Amino acid sequence: MRRILGIETSCDETSAAVVIGTPDAATLASCVILSQDVHRLFGGVVPEIASRQHLTGIVPAVDEALRAADTSLEQLDAIAVTHAPGLVGALLVGTSFAKGLAFTHDLPLVPVHHLEGHLFATLLEHADARPPFTALLVSGGHTLLLDVPAWGRYRVLGRTRDDAVGEAFDKVAKLLGLPYPGGRPLEQLAATADSPAHGHAHHFARPMLRRKAQPGDDDYYDCSFSGLKTAVLLAVRAAEQAGQLDAARASIARGFQDAVIETLVEKVWRALRAHGRERVVLGGGVACNNALQQALAARLTPRGATLFAPSPRLATDNAAMIAAAGLFRLAQGDVAPPTLTATASLPLPGIF
Ligand code: KG4
Ligand code: ZN
Repeated sequence: MRRILGIETSCDETSAAVVIGTPDAATLASCVILSQDVHRLFGGVVPEIASRQHLTGIVPAVDEALRAADTSLEQLDAIAVTHAPGLVGALLVGTSFAKGLAFTHDLPLVPVHHLEGHLFATLLEHADARPPFTALLVSGGHTLLLDVPAWGRYRVLGRTRDDAVGEAFDKVAKLLGLPYPGGRPLEQLAATADSPAHGHAHHFARPMLRRKAQPGDDDYYDCSFSGLKTAVLLAVRAAEQAGQLDAARASIARGFQDAVIETLVEKVWRALRAHGRERVVLGGGVACNNALQQALAARLTPRGATLFAPSPRLATDNAAMIAAAGLFRLAQGDVAPPTLTATASLPLPGIF
């Protein structure tokens, strides 16, 4: 039983959390997430502003996480920090702070890969969300389909060839005049297309979804969203020219979301079947999408497989998942040297 402080500053959330337990049975004692709403003004994350906000947020976030967990620094067994991948200036704030804190309190510092963190997030809420499983990580920066036979062993099956899923949601939302980040507003708009008043007329081709694709074909697991984005742009322009954009917005949103979801569900199903898995673990901000969760569950449940999705708080970037992955890495003896630094891009550890 160990008590670990997690720190996450890879993008635009300043987060600290305390997790207590073992790698397989971890309990969340506290989780503080300071979201940087300032980026909404710019329609995307501005790296320099993100770093500055982390600088002002990190001390209050850590203080509050320790207070809420009724934990003193002396009671900690280790500190886990996201050291890669992400915005390098943002990562540097977390890693530098964690290094200083670990050094002054003589605690082991555990470096955690951000995506490995996302894989552990669901475990904090569902004890059965453990390997072996198929994982789909879908956020604003990543789209990865993985087979996970054991913690620390990750086979990358597919990835996006262009935009990440969340990025595609954000860009299409912008085309439809929705605020940033656009995933949630787009899902809400798409839901209104169900009503007969709006109809549901837009159908977009499913990207990278050849029915005859075979395992081994390079498009069997990969995704691509740029063609779909262009198709949406053309639909928006056509509706605009016809003076009917307002009436068509919900239907376009629904058509886009349906195309994305059908593609993702099929790719997840292929991965699950090919590796004989019975569990699927979702992670990343797009995992909040209810329509995606429902479509996945509808495909998996009748076939005896189970979907595990984190709650929105743990799907988006947070330090609890970093602490949970940190417990595993600590048990493996992965302790950072004093020279640990932040790295903008780095493959997941344990890829095979
Ligand atoms: O994991 P995350 O908080 O940050 C990173 O990108 O790492 O993910 C944010 C992304 C954004 O692109 C946002 O639009 C998307 O997740 N997102 C959604 C939903 N909620 C958030 N996309 C689709 N449907 C949602 N309900
Ligand atoms: Zn993330």
